[in-house]
Amino acid sequence: MKDQFQRQINYMRLSVTDRCNLRCRYCMPKGMENVLPVEKLLSFSELLFLAEEASKLGISRFKVTGGEPLVRDGVLDFIKELKKLDKVEQVTLTTNGILLKEALPELLSAEIDGINVSLDSLKEERFAEITGLPVLPKVLEGIRRACDAGLHVKLNTVMQKGKNEDELFSLLALAKERPLDIRFIEMMPIGYGRNFEPYYNEKILEKIREIYPGITEDISVHGNGPAKYYRIPGFLGSVGFISALHGKFCGSCNRIRLTSEGELKPCLCYGNGYALRGILRNTAFSEEEKRAEVEKTLRNCILGKPESHAFEKLSEVTEHRAMGKIGG
Ligand code: GTP
Ligand code: 5AD
Ligand code: SF4
Repeated sequence: MKDQFQRQINYMRLSVTDRCNLRCRYCMPKGMENVLPVEKLLSFSELLFLAEEASKLGISRFKVTGGEPLVRDGVLDFIKELKKLDKVEQVTLTTNGILLKEALPELLSAEIDGINVSLDSLKEERFAEITGLPVLPKVLEGIRRACDAGLHVKLNTVMQKGKNEDELFSLLALAKERPLDIRFIEMMPIGYGRNFEPYYNEKILEKIREIYPGITEDISVHGNGPAKYYRIPGFLGSVGFISALHGKFCGSCNRIRLTSEGELKPCLCYGNGYALRGILRNTAFSEEEKRAEVEKTLRNCILGKPESHAFEKLSEVTEHRAMGKIGG
């Protein structure tokens, strides 16, 4: 289905939990976690019901995200079921990688189409400082195994001034030896991200270009997200940039998102969504009425998509929840 700006909406992000086993300082800093009571999360059968209705409207690609999706019991079976839905073409996962090694066999048997892993540092102490836990080796092992299994792996790095900017080239080198994508994400003023000074991707690209003048734009399709990719001669993988702040990609936005509490969001930037939990749980509805209401809400959400985000004007950013609650 198209929105009112003629954008084809074919991708949906599903946040299956707001819980996380890390405490990243810009997302869920220690002491700031306030997780939803379990009954407020949509059940997996409610999520499948919703995904099925969305797929009828042309949403054929789903991203399973969190919080940390792998901490929710049953998520691997959910991914299997999601993949089996009639019109679903692609299911990918965004994870912090801690539980990836253990989950990998089931993800492979579910035929997951790709895995994105957050990785802000390759230094053990610094990784622990940013994320709250000394688990870098575990995350790296998960990444290594996912690559060895032949999965399309993308790494997400949020660059922070004075924190990890000195690791640009060691992070980039990961894409030299392996066919993975390393992506730099500009810190968005969402949740605790508001407290950080953004580090612009333009600057990162400039630094890379100084060392690798042969870097060229890569126009092949890498996924469904807003990243813009480049290739460096001699590298097996690519480097991507998610430039939410200065490189607006809203003109080609293809997505809607579902928060962990069952609210549909037409855009990451704005807070007022479309509540679905009440509809899915309304016992006065017959199955058919429920389907009709869910369809109507999905349509309203797609038609209500704003033309673009407003991250450059803080007063217009009306999303005040943490990233982990809304699924990124
Ligand atoms: P794929 O490349 O298809 O895997 O998708 P993706 O890049 O969207 O996936 P991922 O979940 O790894 O998200 C990476 C970053 O992009 C996160 O920080 C998201 O918050 C951000 N992001 C994803 N979609 C949007 C969007 O519509 N707008 C903005 N501003 N940021 C987004
Ligand atoms: N701005 C940009 N990226 C963020 N992430 C979490 N919070 C923010 C923010 N405020 C990133 C995580 C993860 C990805 C899914 O979203 O680092 O890699
Ligand atoms: Fe967890 Fe991801 Fe948020 Fe870090 S950024 S606390 S890994 S949800």
